[in-house]
Amino acid sequence: MTNATPHTITDLRERIQAAAAALKDEMTANRRQLHQHPELSFKEVRTSAFIKQQLDQWDIHWEAIAGTGVIAVIQGAGPSDKVIALRADIDALPIAEANNITYKSVNEGVMHACGHDVHTASLLGVAHILNGLRTQFSGTVKLIFQPGEELLPGGAQQIIEAGGLNNPRADVVLGQHVMPAIPVGKIGVRTGLFMASMDEIKIEVYGKGGHGAEPHKGIDPVVITCTLLQALQQLVSRNTSPFMPSVLSFGKLQADGAINIIPDKVLIEGTFRTLDEAWRDTAHLQIQQLAEDLVTGMGGQCRVEIRKGYPHLKNDEVFGAGMIAFFEEYIGAAHVMPQDIWMASEDFAYYTRERPSFFYLLGVRNEAQQITSSLHTPTFNVDERALELGAGLMAYATLRWLGHG
Ligand code: NI
Repeated sequence: MTNATPHTITDLRERIQAAAAALKDEMTANRRQLHQHPELSFKEVRTSAFIKQQLDQWDIHWEAIAGTGVIAVIQGAGPSDKVIALRADIDALPIAEANNITYKSVNEGVMHACGHDVHTASLLGVAHILNGLRTQFSGTVKLIFQPGEELLPGGAQQIIEAGGLNNPRADVVLGQHVMPAIPVGKIGVRTGLFMASMDEIKIEVYGKGGHGAEPHKGIDPVVITCTLLQALQQLVSRNTSPFMPSVLSFGKLQADGAINIIPDKVLIEGTFRTLDEAWRDTAHLQIQQLAEDLVTGMGGQCRVEIRKGYPHLKNDEVFGAGMIAFFEEYIGAAHVMPQDIWMASEDFAYYTRERPSFFYLLGVRNEAQQITSSLHTPTFNVDERALELGAGLMAYATLRWLGHG
């Protein structure tokens, strides 16, 4: 079974495609069920129960992990030590849905605005497909339904700490994410460095407030902060290697003075992102040092707080290249789109540090139907035809990696 021939590859592809097509309605219904009842990170109680109930229905063995997480195992009948883990995240976001759809969120202020409903429904589809073929393949498939991707410190770390990648030990990990910039029917891929680390930076600048007409009698934290914001941009333009993508953005600036009142304090909050852990640590020190020196030099005082988020995400070159080849077999090279580095952050990054892993993007865009909203927006939605490809492609690549076709 491990000697792939064009004939057997075609046969496998056609069987998986037919199985995925047959599950289209089921996956759509599951996705809508999840979409209508979104739950916040680490509170996915109903979602977790739904996943378990689906798995029970097909007699797939599962175990609870990391609170609301679920790990299911499908053991092929043939003899093989190979183990592949497939991961879906299951949590939603604190966003009020603005879509006019029959399955609109009923949990006020909570929404599946990052497509984790699609990831979950798709992985359930993969489970259904592979379970139907279990007597015909060799090897083991672990399905990881992971809680809390959207909230630091993230559920991936908890899954790993709880031994989710062991017993049986997963050799590799595969995960997908919906992408509204990619048309439905296409996939986005990149091997090597792919996504950024993300850290939260909070700086409080203290001065001495007073009347706007008498600035010389106080210490103006507004002017100090403006200077600091400009100076901090040098970190990216002058201290970062030109070969290493880095972003430093401050989206919050709060000075509670008034037209004629200089406040005592100014607060800024922002994010630092890059793809190199050593530079990340150095940058944190430089931000701290620059803020303290500059603010003190201008007569004020400051407090810098840096909260580390997820590390950068690096796809394995070899495993990734193999997956891309399987994707191309499944949908044709024209539908597999090479991607640039993406400065968003994902806790799938933790799996990439443990095992050769591959994270790729599933196109969900449909311009004609005006399905174009970005992730994390109140009007985010997907072309649900993506489910059929999402599940079929993952099931196919899984079996190919296990040595079939
Ligand atoms: Ni997401």
